[in-house]
Amino acid sequence: MKYLQFNNGDKIPSLGLGTWKSKPGEVYEAVREAIRIGYTHFDCAHVYGNEEEIGQAFTDAFAAGETSREKIFVTSKLWNNRHRTEQVKPALELTLKNLQLDYLDLYLIHWPVVLKDESMYPQTAEDLVSLQTTPLEDTWKGMIAVKETGLTKHIGVSNFSPAKIKKVEEATGVRPEMNQVESHLFHQQNELKTFCDQNGILFTAYSPLGSADRPASRIADNEPKLFDNETIKKIAEEVDASSAQVMLAWAVNRGTSVIPKSVNPERLKQNLAAADIDLSEDQMNELAKVNKDYRYIKGDFWCIEGSDYSLESLWG
Ligand code: A2P
Repeated sequence: MKYLQFNNGDKIPSLGLGTWKSKPGEVYEAVREAIRIGYTHFDCAHVYGNEEEIGQAFTDAFAAGETSREKIFVTSKLWNNRHRTEQVKPALELTLKNLQLDYLDLYLIHWPVVLKDESMYPQTAEDLVSLQTTPLEDTWKGMIAVKETGLTKHIGVSNFSPAKIKKVEEATGVRPEMNQVESHLFHQQNELKTFCDQNGILFTAYSPLGSADRPASRIADNEPKLFDNETIKKIAEEVDASSAQVMLAWAVNRGTSVIPKSVNPERLKQNLAAADIDLSEDQMNELAKVNKDYRYIKGDFWCIEGSDYSLESLWG
């Protein structure tokens, strides 16, 4: 396994298990199996609705002697309806209770979007709170405070642009340590990756396989399919790997962390093995040309007419 390093020397394994869309009833066995075969990095979030089951899997794996708390790296994320400074600590405490852990390795602000306390997803513009009312700087202050208490070792953001990262840093003097964003061969995010590299911010790629198991309402007609791409298929043949493995190996070879989701034992194994596949410079160059700047997770679900959110303000 390759690792990325935080500024204090702590390390995050380059490949981790994604748990978005892993259903309760399936995720317990997926996490147990992942631990048995050698996964050490788990990406979670309150909003995925499965942290209790993941916590049970950790506890049972510790009891069975399959791993220990120090050997695994666990990330979770603050949901949009807990963005006020004083809400961050209780939200993290609930996540820790659900995960049956004393601390996280990494806690992220999930989206630069604020919801009313009682809303999990916006149905109408009324459910959204403007960033003028609850600025991201306030949320970031809560994140800094929970790091100081030791409830999490590292803090960062997700779905943030360079402008938003700069804003929270300027307000507090503390720079996010990680930005987790959609990134795959069709949405390589080269500019954002360069910004992160230049500023010592680590980069995690979500939806690295295109998240085809998204809710149907979030799948656009005629969207391009990574698994149909001829360059990816050709390189998969060259390195005697699957297309999925090429997508993951590309992410690891370019120095990002990557979190493919699977609940299937064979694919869990295949995905972990991808972290050890080396691609040549020529293969990396060929794969760079596959980019289409195509987002699968468009964020349009936040941009309800009458609210303060638009696609421009969300990603800008
Ligand atoms: P499953 O959980 O049944 O394995 P993403 O990580 O981009 O969100 O993609 C997750 C989707 O990709 C899920 O539908 C998952 O299904 C599927 N998947 C995970 N690993 C592989 C693989 N190695 N080959 C093909 N599909 C995969």
